[in-house]
Amino acid sequence: MEFVFLEKEMLDAAEDTAVMFLYEGEQNDIVPAPAFEDFKGKDGQTVVCYPQSSPKRLILSGLGKRENFHINKLRLSVANVINTCRKLEVATISFSTVKDGVNEKEAIVAITESALMADHKFVMKSEASPSKINRIILFSSSPKALEKDLFYAVVTARNCNAVRDLVNNSASTVTPTYIAKVAEDLCEQKGIKCTVYSRKELKEMGANALLAVASGSCEEPKMVVMEYTPKSFTRTVALVGKGITFDSGGLSLKPAAGMETMKCDMAGAVSVMHTLIAAAELKINVRIIGVMALTENIIGPGAYKPGDIIKTMSGKTIEILNTDAEGRVVLSDALHLAGTFSPDYTIDVATLTGACIVALGTEVSGIMGNDAELIEAIKKSGLATYERVWELPMYEEYKELTVSEFADLKNVTSNAPGSPAGAIVGAKFLEQFVKGKWAHLDIAGTDWADAEKGYKPKGATGVGVRLLTHFLYNVR
Ligand code: BES
Ligand code: ZN
Ligand code: ZN
Repeated sequence: MEFVFLEKEMLDAAEDTAVMFLYEGEQNDIVPAPAFEDFKGKDGQTVVCYPQSSPKRLILSGLGKRENFHINKLRLSVANVINTCRKLEVATISFSTVKDGVNEKEAIVAITESALMADHKFVMKSEASPSKINRIILFSSSPKALEKDLFYAVVTARNCNAVRDLVNNSASTVTPTYIAKVAEDLCEQKGIKCTVYSRKELKEMGANALLAVASGSCEEPKMVVMEYTPKSFTRTVALVGKGITFDSGGLSLKPAAGMETMKCDMAGAVSVMHTLIAAAELKINVRIIGVMALTENIIGPGAYKPGDIIKTMSGKTIEILNTDAEGRVVLSDALHLAGTFSPDYTIDVATLTGACIVALGTEVSGIMGNDAELIEAIKKSGLATYERVWELPMYEEYKELTVSEFADLKNVTSNAPGSPAGAIVGAKFLEQFVKGKWAHLDIAGTDWADAEKGYKPKGATGVGVRLLTHFLYNVR
């Protein structure tokens, strides 16, 4: 899909299919009057009309009431248009920029990223019906001033889509070795330093927590460290991702229902990788250390067991009470390793707890951490990208729930159903392996969509890339 700017008025220039965004109850004299009998401009309403003259097709897309407008309504409208155009096998779409009440730069970013994300579907059917959409025309009187925004949106959306593909693909294909190879290849292309630690090296480093989770699998675990160092920078940010390429729960086995979605358990790691790549493509002036802790969590002859006590890379010990709380175990080593780079900020991204889904559902990721300013900055990026985050409290009393009688920490409070404050306890656990200012994103509810909604097709959402790239772009 290519994007081009035109300076002409849309309706004169539209080649084929033109799109007009309208608020609810507002008409204009460009659109043939009878169309307004059907089209009311309600949220998400999409009507196709065929004017006598050019353009051949005019798509009216509703933004809802003007006073309730939010930039994400534009993203959702664009997604409806894209889905309509796919069915009609349209190749070129001309979008009017919404002039009144909307910032043009924001609109260009929203249209571009939504078009790319909505049109990107993951299918492995034997008879594919690929999208015919190949050209998006945008209209502006000052296109030069918008080139940078267009590029920004293309980079973030493409990296988001790349995350989706990795997450949606089979766990038997996208193994730790596979992801490490993707990281090496991408980093080589962009001139980024990339180090991959294998089982033997992890043993020498004392990364016994990652090794413990990996011990039930014949797939090699990998710890991947990517270092993006721009020519000039003042800040170093470490991004750390949970990379469980399949989470069966291990010996504390998960039930069959829904287990197929546990190929998503590496979404944090790959969103970290593609955020770092996006930042490099955008030449963001922040040094970024990306760490991915990659392994399967499955059952094999060597599998780690409830009751095991592990000495992590940091020296702290963990008592395993449930092998299904493996994310915090692998992250204990990954966060410690990230700390050795003395970052100004550390952000981890993890499909960490079902409890976060219970607390917040699927519209918003959980955020927890030890630095109010950092959390505030990520919240702002959440609103701008609509990858929203909601903070849960990190009161010190919660720490008690992570204390073991035999080891420094236990990986779950207890196995009793409804163990309290699961999402927070997960974060309190991670906090003990962190150096400096830190935020934790629990994306267990937001990384996967059970049904298509707007620009998010069913399956992996690619959450994290747009959020964190926006944060890095604006970090001070
Ligand atoms: N990967 C899961 C969390 C998860 C659940 C992600 C649903 C996405 C959707 C994690 O490893 C896990 O199994 N957590 C357990 C922790 C429990 C044993 C304390 C959970 O949330 O049930
Ligand atoms: Zn688990
Ligand atoms: Zn998991």
